[in-house]
Amino acid sequence: MLPEEGYGYLPITEVEPATLGAFTCGKPRLDEFLTTQARALHEARLGFTNVVFHQQFEGPVGYFTLANDAIKLNDSEKFELGFGEHIELAAFPAVKIGRLAVHQDLQRRGVGGALMALLLGDILNTAGLSAARLIVVDADNDDAVLCFYEKLGFETSLWAEDMAKNHTKKRAPAATIKMHRDVFKGL
Ligand SMILES: CC(C)(COP(=O)(O)OP(=O)(O)OC[C@H]1O[C@@H](n2cnc3c(N)ncnc32)[C@H](O)[C@@H]1OP(=O)(O)O)[C@@H](O)C(=O)NCCC(=O)NCCS
Repeated sequence: MLPEEGYGYLPITEVEPATLGAFTCGKPRLDEFLTTQARALHEARLGFTNVVFHQQFEGPVGYFTLANDAIKLNDSEKFELGFGEHIELAAFPAVKIGRLAVHQDLQRRGVGGALMALLLGDILNTAGLSAARLIVVDADNDDAVLCFYEKLGFETSLWAEDMAKNHTKKRAPAATIKMHRDVFKGL
């Protein structure tokens, strides 16, 4: 278990390719994203990737990629979030977790939770230039990932579920599940 103190992160543009190449989370798709795509997206301002380190671990403990987003909510979700009828927005501003991964050797030891606390804290502390009330993710539809996000207070998007019911004919399981969390939750 890594101590809560000692985490820090760097933009991917400041991390050596060899350091990135040594990272594995057990999902090749996410390892390859870090070494082949993340820097270009970062430089193009299409998704900012930050690589997380800990004083007591050699190499990256994980990484996350964030971008601005906006999501639709159904009436019960708006009510749950305390948005009254006076708030008339077609979509609600959010920060999207495009990618998030923890080193394979460190999984199930609280590191993912620590990454989430780190990024949520910094989203809330960011100077008030661009608003975002929700944090959203298209979570891989596997038990480990869904349990992880649920444990951290994310909820499945009811709006997306309603849309899928009304517009999808075939019933193959979705590869990802849209989830969101109020950035104020737990404060
Ligand atoms: C998903 C991932 C980020 C979770 O990170 P982590 O450091 O292992 O998670 P934590 O140790 O902080 O777990 C927090 C909670 O999430 C849940 N959880 C995490 N991994 C789980 C698993 N394999 N099975 C069931 N629940 C799990 C548990 O409730 C856990 O709390 P607990 O250990 O007290 O029971 C990590 O497993 C990972 O990088 N996986 C590969 C990449 C990936 O799938 N990313 C997500 C793409 S959307």
